[in-house]
Amino acid sequence: MAVDVKKRIEKLRAEIRRHDYLYYVLAQPEISDRQYDKLFAELKDLEAKHPELVTADSPTQRVSGRPLEGFQTVRHAVPMLSMDNTYNADELRAFDERVAKGLGTNDYDYIIELKIDGVAVSLRYEAGALVTGATRGDGRMGDDVTANVRTVRAIPLILLSDGVKTPDVLEVRGEVFMPTTAFLQVNRLREQAGEPAFANPRNATAGSLKLLDARITAKRNLSFFAYATGQFSEPLGENHYDTLAVFKKLGLPVNPHIRRAKDIDEALKICQSWDRKRDELDYQIDGMVIKLNRFDQRDILGSTGRAPRWCISYKFAAAQTETVVESIDVQVGKSGAMTPVVNLTPVLLAGTTVKRASLHNFDQLNRLDVREGDTVIIEKAGEIIPQVVKVKKEKRPAGASIFKPPTKCPNCGGDVKKDEDGVCIRCLNPNCLAQLKERLKYFAGRGQMDIEGLGPAIIDQLVEQKLVIEPADLYKLTKQDLLSLDRMGPKSVDNLLEAIEKSKTRNLTRVIAGLGIQHVGIQVAEILANRFKHLGLLMQASEEELADIDQIGPVIAKSIRNYFDEWRNRTKELLTYLNPQSEKTVLSKKLAGKTVVVTGTLKNFTRETIKEAIRMAGAKASSSVSKKTDYVLAGDNAGSKLDKARRLGVKVIDEKQFMEML
Ligand code: IVH
Repeated sequence: MAVDVKKRIEKLRAEIRRHDYLYYVLAQPEISDRQYDKLFAELKDLEAKHPELVTADSPTQRVSGRPLEGFQTVRHAVPMLSMDNTYNADELRAFDERVAKGLGTNDYDYIIELKIDGVAVSLRYEAGALVTGATRGDGRMGDDVTANVRTVRAIPLILLSDGVKTPDVLEVRGEVFMPTTAFLQVNRLREQAGEPAFANPRNATAGSLKLLDARITAKRNLSFFAYATGQFSEPLGENHYDTLAVFKKLGLPVNPHIRRAKDIDEALKICQSWDRKRDELDYQIDGMVIKLNRFDQRDILGSTGRAPRWCISYKFAAAQTETVVESIDVQVGKSGAMTPVVNLTPVLLAGTTVKRASLHNFDQLNRLDVREGDTVIIEKAGEIIPQVVKVKKEKRPAGASIFKPPTKCPNCGGDVKKDEDGVCIRCLNPNCLAQLKERLKYFAGRGQMDIEGLGPAIIDQLVEQKLVIEPADLYKLTKQDLLSLDRMGPKSVDNLLEAIEKSKTRNLTRVIAGLGIQHVGIQVAEILANRFKHLGLLMQASEEELADIDQIGPVIAKSIRNYFDEWRNRTKELLTYLNPQSEKTVLSKKLAGKTVVVTGTLKNFTRETIKEAIRMAGAKASSSVSKKTDYVLAGDNAGSKLDKARRLGVKVIDEKQFMEML
């Protein structure tokens, strides 16, 4: 039986790796996401039942169990250089002349790549296994972000060997990036949770790679393209083009738009064509990279110490255009936060029509001194949301007046107040209709209760006609109520009622997220759901108890406590319609809620996998022994922690006993 399980587990891992390869490298998936998820779920289930069979390179082990204290630094075996830039055709031609002169021949070719706007990383594979992932840092030393890069599904944990030998050592360099759709999604979630949005996908990628908790990185949907080597035990080819082909055979994703150019004219044409086409991609590029193909020729040219002489980037100009500010609106968010929005005369910018630009806050509006009637320059660079970069003061119409931050809520006329940080201005009236609407929109949103058909236009009507004030009211709506709304026929009414009914089955995480507590997005909601298992218990938790939870600081704790103090009755009423369950079931009764400290070397587990096993058993893995520790799991060569456990009288167990408890 054990042998069969082991075989099945290995089979599943191989299958999953093959499908990752088909998806990320070849872009030719053979199965649906659902079928993939099924394979993955089966593997997870088998591993949970047989934790002794879990290995660090299993596809289930991408996410480590615990946050890090900080990042170690790693020295790059081969420095990660930077790149010189060009901004126009003449500069690019000058580069080509230097190449021709340096080589003393015109017999060379270029490889043209997209310059992906993400974060450069170096991935070190030893005997085919990913051992380290590091950021560029200063080029010589970078941060060890192994736990984070392991969560990027496009990055293989072990290399394939599709007709090529797996190198003993291979450092792969490439770009980790956040696809545009993922970026928009992350920002939507952040804004809903009252967190500041990322300015552009590059910042979002850098922020995600620098998180100490890889469990959050795993949710950021980062991706990866490989484009160079660092150290290697044997060369993969004689030129760059062949090397990229070997990358693919090793299971490393390579950008599909890479082209070869026989001379600089052809290179330039390719570069210019992408300046126009860049909006078609689901990731941001800020230019192109032109690389000499042959490695022997690269060696002749060498580098300046800062940057190689054999490659250069061709940077696109940020798309800019001029338009007029027709009006300035103030938007009220679900927690009352007010933001200025400028309505523009529609213009075409880098392929999309822009009608509005948002400003982060009133300080920014005042710094730029944007007024109604102003002619402004808007820009779309790395940013996806257009920004106002400058006001053309010479074109300002006479009498245009300074925009004053609101002293009353533009929606309800209620009092407003600046937050303690002095930036955000908030409407203080909790019954402000704009806030009610935003809260309901959020509650019904895709990431929360996912009520299909309950869009903004319907919510606006429901609130204005006083049919709905708070989420619980949605569950009291009748056919009659809905038929009274604009553009709602019997069929759509039935569908909507069905969707509302269906939302009653959403799990606890979604319900907590749906409440719209400030700073509580889906990730924090999940932590709370796992911890409290029931909304009623969460409602009772004290501020101290909340702040004590791993990853929940005092600010979030206070916000949660405030929310339930203010909205206790409303939340209770919601509970009469919903009975949300926590989705995590606990594997072991004996270990549930216990604290376990691991010390020494274990036979069947790595540091990461044992922590995961402890977590899956419903227990907490801690790193220091105290009186509160329930068990110390001691392996070979256990040292001071074991001594301390004995001194404090904490129960010491070995690996075998631990497994029995599971
Ligand atoms: S090659 C010696 N290829 O651009 C330089 N870099 O400005 C080796 N980048 O730090 C890098 N796309 O983060 C290379 N196709 C590509 C790239 C690329 C983006 C980034 C990379 C590098 C930066 C230099």
